[in-house]
Amino acid sequence: MNDNCTENVCVMNGDPIIVKDLSLRYHNRVAFKDVSINLSPCTVTALIGPSGCGKTSFLNCINRMTDFVDGCQVRGQIRVHGENILSKQTDVVKLRRKIGMIFQKPNPFPLSIDRNISMPLRYHGIKDAKQRQEIVEKSLNEVGLWDEVKDRLHTQATSLSGGQQQRLCIARAIALEPEILLMDEPCSALDPQSSATIESLIGAMRKKFTLIVVTHNLAQAKRVSDKTVIFWNYEGFGQIVEDGPTDQVFFKPSNKTAQAYIGGHLG
Ligand SMILES: Nc1ncnc2c1ncn2[C@@H]1O[C@H](COP(=O)(O)OP(=O)(O)O)[C@@H](O)[C@H]1O
Ligand SMILES: [Mg+2]
Repeated sequence: MNDNCTENVCVMNGDPIIVKDLSLRYHNRVAFKDVSINLSPCTVTALIGPSGCGKTSFLNCINRMTDFVDGCQVRGQIRVHGENILSKQTDVVKLRRKIGMIFQKPNPFPLSIDRNISMPLRYHGIKDAKQRQEIVEKSLNEVGLWDEVKDRLHTQATSLSGGQQQRLCIARAIALEPEILLMDEPCSALDPQSSATIESLIGAMRKKFTLIVVTHNLAQAKRVSDKTVIFWNYEGFGQIVEDGPTDQVFFKPSNKTAQAYIGGHLG
C-alpha cells in the first residue's frame, strides 16, 4: 500500500466537527433524535449499531444528501469550522467538495478510469488538463491503484474488480481534497482481501482527513477507529447509547445495551 497520505498533515486546522441536538424525520416518522457528538479532526470515528437505527441517515446529514430526499426534515446543528452547515446560506456544492462520501456498493461513473477522477475535477473548476492529470495520478497513487491501472486509464471503470472500484471511488473523493470523508459500510460488498486493503487505507488517510466510518463489523470498528459511537433503536427511533474512545467503548461500555451489543448478546 502506498502511504503517501502520511506525508500530509491534517487539513482541518484543529476545529472539531460539532453535532448538536440533531434529529431527522422522514415525513412523520422520526429516524433518529437528539444526537450530539464532537468529532476531532484527523481521527477515525466508527458508527456502529443494528440496521435501521439511523446511521446512514446521520451520514447523509453531514454532506446534505438529505436535501435530495422527499419529506426529509433535519433539525439541530452540525458545525464545521464554526459554521452550521445545515443553514440555508450554506453553499452545498462547495460543502460536498469538502465532505466526500463513499458508499457500501462501489459506484464508479460508467466512464473510463481516468474520467472518473478528471471529470469531477473539471466540474469543480480545475481547467488545466495537465494539472488534472497530475491529480489523477497522485490520487490513484494514494489508494495504491496507480501501478494496477496506469496502462489502462482509458478503459471502463466498471471493468475493475469490486475492491479496485471501491479504491477508485476513494481516489475520486480524495482528488477533490476533502476535509471529511464519510464511509457507509465501505467494505461490506468486498472480499476479505479487498476489505483489508480498504482498512489499511483508512489508517493511512486519517493522517490527512477526518473520517466517519459506518460498519456492521465490530472487529473492524475496533481495528480502524479512534472513537466509537453506538446508535440504537429505542422507542422507535435511533439514539446514541454509547460514545467515547474506542478502547473504552469496547472494553468498558457504561450503557447496558452497549455492553450486550459489544458482548455479542444483542443486535
Ligand atoms: N428515504 C427514506 N424515506 C423514508 N424512510 C427512510 C428513508 N431512508 C431511511 N429510512 C428509514 O429511516 C430509518 C433509519 O434508516 P437508515 O438511516 O438507513 O439506518 P441504518 O443505516 O442504521 O440501517 C429506517 O427505519 C429506514 O427505514
Ligand atoms: Mg445504513
